[in-house]
Order: sequence, then structure tokens, then C-alpha cells
Amino acid sequence: METKIIVVENIADDQEKIREAAEIIKKGGVVAFPTETVYGLGADALNEDGVKKIFIAKGRPQDNPLIVHVASKEIDLLVEEIPEVAHKLIDKFWPGPLTVILKKKNIIPNVTSANLDSIGIRMPNDEIALKLIELTNTVIAAPSANISGRPSPTDVERCIEDLDGKVDCILGGHKSNIGLESTIVDCTVNPPLVLRPGGITLEMLKEIDSRIEIDKAVMQKPQKNIKPKAPGMKYRHYAPKAKVTIISGKRKKTIEKIQQIVHNYIDNNKKVCILTVEENKKEYTEGTKIVLGSIKDLSTVAKNLFEALRHCDDLGADFILAEAYEEKGVGIAIMNRLKKAAGFDIIEV
Ligand code: TXA
Ligand code: MG
Repeated sequence: METKIIVVENIADDQEKIREAAEIIKKGGVVAFPTETVYGLGADALNEDGVKKIFIAKGRPQDNPLIVHVASKEIDLLVEEIPEVAHKLIDKFWPGPLTVILKKKNIIPNVTSANLDSIGIRMPNDEIALKLIELTNTVIAAPSANISGRPSPTDVERCIEDLDGKVDCILGGHKSNIGLESTIVDCTVNPPLVLRPGGITLEMLKEIDSRIEIDKAVMQKPQKNIKPKAPGMKYRHYAPKAKVTIISGKRKKTIEKIQQIVHNYIDNNKKVCILTVEENKKEYTEGTKIVLGSIKDLSTVAKNLFEALRHCDDLGADFILAEAYEEKGVGIAIMNRLKKAAGFDIIEV
């Protein structure tokens, strides 16, 4: 399939480019597009044939439901009921990196919700995404725009790498500002439960309802007998080709351990990348250092994490060693993605 690549430089001058992508979606096609979290791969959420093409292009298991992207907070046509707390969350955090799970109306086809009676909905905080949705006159179902299992793309080049020839159109814009997928909050239960941590932190959610907690299964290694509440959580995720290991402990011991492991790998002619931060980069004398950001502002680490994992693959790394982050604020989301990328291989020092 020929993929049309359209790059938006400036939203004010490029409305026609966005309209062209919108027309493709209206006709049942699939289009990758930017959002503030990661790039999405969208189709008309109400068009079964369009949505099916998303699953095929990504190689996504059919039991993994999609998130519906909207351009307004008016979602009564899509969902059965909106509990008071969901209203508050939407008012506070939309547009933004928050997906709410609500009971769906029948207008949402079963392919979109993977046969669940609920649906995840989000209003992205991204001008291009919002304009695209508006111009389609519908709502857009979109998972992250990566081949299933790979780290999510945060810029147009990575979308092209994964999807060129597999989708109708790739609409490019700026780099995603947040870099990790949205926080998912299940509002079909009371109190609501976080199914995936993201840019909206637990601390921020607790300001709306202090009873909100993160689902216990989220930060642990998947267990055979526990059915995850977000179907996507049972799949291998965010995984580069290299083997990822997380080193967790006090700063000095973590650095020592990483240096020791790197030394051994290099002795064995292996290529090793170290995911580190500004504050620690000088400590490493061997291996390829990749600086994610600063420990003083973990949003910088979040923004660069997926791109760094993909960059390690470009470099032909055999092994990736990652420093752990404190599980607080956006550190929870960073550690959730890192643990999945590492298949829960963590060395405590
Ligand atoms: O930031 C994001 O959320 C990005 C951008 C493109 O908006 N999208 C995204 O979609 O991350 P995806 O498909 O990669 O992740 C959706 C996750 C999956 O783990 C899925 O299982 C879960 O949301 N999910 C969707 N609908 C659900 C539902 N009704 N109940 C429980 N989990 C649901
Ligand atoms: Mg995804």
C-alpha cells in the first residue's frame, strides 16, 4: 500500500493538509497523527472496517480495545452514564493525557471496544489532533502508532519506520511533548482505579478523589491467574531488540553495579547502552551513555524514554542497562514502562 506522508509545519497555514488526512479517515482509511502523549494510529471509531485496518496494520491482538479520541468534552452520545467523579476528572484534565473508561453506548462498534461493554475516551491536548478530529466530524479510535510490542513513537520519523506501506497516511507534526501514553482511569468502578499510569499523576488524581489508587497488577510482573483489567497490560510491551535490565538502589551502588556489568559485557564484545541522567552521566567511563533528562525534572526523562529505547536498537545494542527512578509522580509511569521493556528484570543493589 502507498502511504501518503503529510507534514504539518504550522497549524495556521496548514489546515488543508489536515483536511486531507481527515478525508482519508472519513472514507474508512487509517492515519497516524501526533498527540501530546505519543503518536496515534487513527480510524473512524464508528466505522468497523476502518477500525479493523488499525489492528491489521499494527499486528494488534483483537482482544485489546482502542481509545476513542474526541475534540470536545460533550461525550453523552458515546457513553451510557458519566459518574460525578468522571465529570470532575474530565473538567480538570481535558484536553490532556487522561483516558477515562466509561460504559459505552451501542453506537461504538464491538471491534473498537474489543467486545467490552466499556470504552476508553480521551481528548488530546494537541492542536493538530484536535483539528483532525473536528474535521472528520466523527471520533477517532487510536492506539499508539507503533507495531505491536515496540516502544511507542514520539515523532513522525518513528511512525514512518513502523508504518510506511502499512497505512493510508502519516500526518506528521512536532515531537510529542509528554512522551508516555495517557493515564487510564477506570470510572466504571467506584472509587475509580488507575489501569495505566501516565502524565496525569496519582497525586494529581487524588486531588479530585483521594480514594483513587493504582491497580495492584500494574507495577507487578503479569501473573497467569490474574486477568488484567486493561487487556493491553498482559502483552509484552515497549520492548527494544536489546535485552533491558533495570538497576535499582542508592545512587552510588547503582552506578557501581552498572559499571561492573558494562565492563563484563564489553569484555565479551557486547554492545551496551546505559540509560542515565544529566546528574550521573560523568560517572560512567565505558559503554554508550544515553542521557534521558534530569532527575530534578522527571518529565524530561518521560519525554525521551521511548525514543532512547529505539535509538539503542539503531546503535545495534545487545544490552541496555537502565537506572531506576523513584516511584513517585511521573516516576511511576516511567518505571511502569521501563519494567515492561525489561520484562521485569530488575537487579536490586
Ligand atoms: O496516550 C495514549 O493513550 C495514546 C495516544 C495515541 O492517545 N494511545 C494509546 O493507546 O496508548 P494504546 O492502544 O496503545 O493503549 C490503550 C490501552 C490498552 O492497554 C488497552 O487495553 C486499554 O487502553 N483499554 C482501552 N479500552 C479499555 C477498556 N474499555 N477497559 C480497559 N482497558 C482499556
Ligand atoms: Mg500502545
